[in-house]
Amino acid sequence: MDDRARLRVQAMKTLLSAEVDRHQKVFESTNQRDFIDAFLAEISGTSDTESAFHESEGREQLVQTLIDLFVAGTETTSASVAFAVHYMAAHREVQDRVRAEIHDALGHDRFPESSDRQDLPYTEAALLEVVRMANVTPRGLLPHANMAGPVKIGPYTVPEAHTVQASFGLLFNGADSGWADPDKFDPDRFIDEESGKVQRVARLIPFSTGKRQCPAETLATSQVFLFFAALIQRFKFEPVEEAEKAKKKAKKPAELAKKLLAGAGGVTRSPLPEAIKITRVNSKRSLVNNNSK
Ligand code: HEM
Repeated sequence: MDDRARLRVQAMKTLLSAEVDRHQKVFESTNQRDFIDAFLAEISGTSDTESAFHESEGREQLVQTLIDLFVAGTETTSASVAFAVHYMAAHREVQDRVRAEIHDALGHDRFPESSDRQDLPYTEAALLEVVRMANVTPRGLLPHANMAGPVKIGPYTVPEAHTVQASFGLLFNGADSGWADPDKFDPDRFIDEESGKVQRVARLIPFSTGKRQCPAETLATSQVFLFFAALIQRFKFEPVEEAEKAKKKAKKPAELAKKLLAGAGGVTRSPLPEAIKITRVNSKRSLVNNNSK
């Protein structure tokens, strides 16, 4: 870890320790409000000095777990929403279809809720296609090492203490990934022609698979949907004229557009910066969530 990364982790530690302090001051074991309270309840009920929940060790684990949740959850989710906006700006016919579906099902006013997902198959399909093309965690986010000895995977033996990383691109959009026309952005590939419903494809595993797969798949999928659907419901996204012109003038415009959308990054991938014009779809409507009123 370099110095800047160390400083960032230290800043998170300070912030989250203060939050744990705030929780501890008003903590009641019979009224657990959130994850921190549940963890504090476990700490207060642990007398085993060997346990990871014991007293100061427990508190240290709590702060570290909160850091893990922020590190694993922030960039992955925001990059997914950012990619969705960029893909919609690049594919306006898809964006218009998504918006029409949302307006038909919810109107202009009511903010989307998780339960709306079942009534918005094309919106879901568009997000799945963004997930497939954007591939936000190209190497499966976290490396794994077999510290307990050699492991046999099919015909291969991985020697002890060797790191194994996934390559999701090979599954999601590589030339031999098994998708028809893998480079084409086409949400309809996820819609079952007969039923009109979303059909999932087993090899699209953005949250990985197995014992260590992302514990927040349900939360993250729902969050990305809520942001995406609310944004498309209320705003129109288009490349600004100059950016369009620059793309057209480029020696290989199609390649430039592809490069911008392919994004950049290491552990997680984010879209490259690109100017996007944002217009309110209906300027009279409120931008504040008033669903509960
Ligand atoms: C679109 C958003 C997200 C994507 C694509 C994603 C993807 C992943 C992937 C690929 C892994 C690695 C699984 C493995 O090692 O096999 C992972 C692990 C993890 N994710 Fe997510 N994630 C997302 C959002 C979140 C959120 C919002 C949280 C927390 C609130 C979270 C918490 C974690 C944690 C704690 C792990 C480590 C699990 C372990 O090692 O046992 N993730 N995620």
